[in-house]
Parts: sequence; structure tokens; C-alpha cells
Amino acid sequence: MSRLLYDENNLPSIDSLRAANYDNVDKGTVEPVKRVGVLTSGGDAPGMNAAIRAVVRAGINAGFEMYGVQRGYHGLWKGEIKQLDGRSVSETLQRGGTFLMTARSKSFMEDQGVLKGARMMEAYELDALVVIGGDGSYKGARALARIGIPVIGMPGTIDNDIASTDYTIGYDTAMNTAMDCIDKLRDTASSHERCSVIEVMGRRAGYIALNVGIASGAEAILIPEVPFDFNKDVLRIILDGRNRGKKHYVVIVAEGAGNATEIAKQIEEATGIESRPTILGHLQRGGSPTLRDRTTASLMGIRAIDCLLEKRFNRLIVEKDGKIGDVDIEEGLEMTKTISEQFIIDAKRLS
Ligand code: F6P
Repeated sequence: MSRLLYDENNLPSIDSLRAANYDNVDKGTVEPVKRVGVLTSGGDAPGMNAAIRAVVRAGINAGFEMYGVQRGYHGLWKGEIKQLDGRSVSETLQRGGTFLMTARSKSFMEDQGVLKGARMMEAYELDALVVIGGDGSYKGARALARIGIPVIGMPGTIDNDIASTDYTIGYDTAMNTAMDCIDKLRDTASSHERCSVIEVMGRRAGYIALNVGIASGAEAILIPEVPFDFNKDVLRIILDGRNRGKKHYVVIVAEGAGNATEIAKQIEEATGIESRPTILGHLQRGGSPTLRDRTTASLMGIRAIDCLLEKRFNRLIVEKDGKIGDVDIEEGLEMTKTISEQFIIDAKRLS
């Protein structure tokens, strides 16, 4: 890539950088990558460490110099950048969280934020950046791509809500953690003949709720993708159960569909059945990643490095129909994702 040189007192305008970038791409003057930065951004997800490790190890094996950027785009702004060798990622594969740390950096979307990031890339002579995170993090990466910085995005979020990919790193671990908690909550609900209303994460998506609802035999599952009628979809199901002799109940609520405290209160008031809300919250983000998350993160990391080696820049790593692949970042961010209708029907047939 041609270097973006800055005069401290005379920052270039974002438009001029965009124009220069399109010019370079048109002339095919993008140079091979040598020094690569990697960062994690947005909410942490189990398997992010495995993803960093794979990017670093595969990058070093490919002949790149690898650099870890701490605290997401925040750290990029501040130049919190350190070289990583193969050993610096030892013993990280099995650890939850992200050893590079992470942050939510909304202001990175603004032009000045993007320019600050680009300037630090320049100062550290980083030729490309691998961004591990969710859709918000991808938007930051796209902003850098648009001014000429080669980027690769890897999907890291427990929510599984990234449209370009069937699977996101952290999703399986989070669901297993939630399922374990729900099993425990069912034990106590059963002993006290109560209704346990459990709120799970997922932001505006119901993937976690639907899956853990099926896996833990929930009486009702509420997700944002399917509008529900409290009387018909919650009350009636619980009362029908009671009339058949049921003594305890589990209701799963995706955080984007409602509030466990409110719903538990409504159930207790309407039925007289003692109801307790539990918000699983950030518990779901922690813990050692499952095999699924470790292997997917590892294979996606290798694919990210392959893209850089092949000078296929500005790509998002995806899993589609069980295979690891990559798509253009602009196209990926335009995609939409929906939960399969059949899956929703099947979940209802089991309640
Ligand atoms: O995107 C991951 C996620 O855990 C969502 O499920 C949740 O809505 C959000 O992040 C919580 O964010 P924070 O950690 O900033 O409270």
C-alpha cells in the first residue's frame, strides 16, 4: 500500500484519503503486506484469544511481523501497540476473554477518529489490520478500508448476529454456559414448584435464546424476531401445563424481546404461581471456550492470514454451510440475517 504520510499540523481530509485510496486500487499499486496489527473490539467473546493466537502464529509462519493493539480502536488511537512473537500467545487458547483487552469505541466512526487510527498505523508502519469483533467493529474496519488501510474482519461475538456468517466465535461457549445455568435454575424451580424466567443475552437477536430454550426444554421462548402475545404465548402455555399436572416452568426471554423481571411479575400476578427472574448477563461472556469456538477461531485466523498473503484485502472471514470462507467487507455489511422459520416452528412443537 502507499503510505499515508501526515504532517502533524496539517491532517489530510478524509475525502482526499479516500480519493487517493481509490486511485491506488485502480492502478494496482497496493504493495505486499509485511507488518500486521490485530485487535479485539466490542464485547469480548470466548475464543477471541484463540483467534488472536491463530492470527499471530499463522502470520509469523507466513513471514509477517505481528503487532497486538490493546483495547480495540481506543488503543489504536493511543498507540497501545506491541510486537507479538509466537510465544506471547502461548497458553491463551483455552482462556476466556481477550488478553489484548477490548473496548466499545463509538467515536471511531467519526472522521477524526478514523484519521487518528490511520495515523497510528502509519507511525507503527502497520500495513494491515485484523479486527476481531462484531458488526460495530466491522464498521470501524470499513472506515479504515475506505481510506486505504487493508483490513480483515473476523466475527467475534456471543450473539451470532453478524449477517455475513452463519457462525460467530464465542456463540457456542455462551450457549453452553447459559444452558448449564438454566439446568441449575430448573433444579431449584422444581424443588419450590416455581416458574423461573431467565433472560439471556443476544442484543437484538434471539439466536442464544432459541437454542438454549430448546436445549433446556423451556416451556416458552421469547425472541425479538417473533412478536408474542403474553396471554397466548406465555400464560396459556403455563396454565395448560399446570392443568396437565406440571409443577414447575422455565421461560426463556431474549434480552431484545423483554425483561425477565417484568415478565416474572406478570406471570405471578396472573397465575398465582411463584415466579423468579434471573438475568444471566455477563456470565455468558466468560469462561474457557468450547472445542467448537477454539477450532473455528483457529481456522478463521488462518484464513485471515491467507487473505493478506494473497493480497485479498478488505475481507470478512465467514463460515458458510460449514466451510470457512471470506466476503468483501462492503458487501458483508449490507447483508441481512434471519432465524430460519422452520427452527422457530420446531421450537414451538417441543414446548
Ligand atoms: O454483543 C455482546 C453483548 O454481550 C450483547 O449480548 C449484550 O447486549 C451486550 O454485549 C452487552 O454489552 P456491555 O458489555 O457493554 O454491557
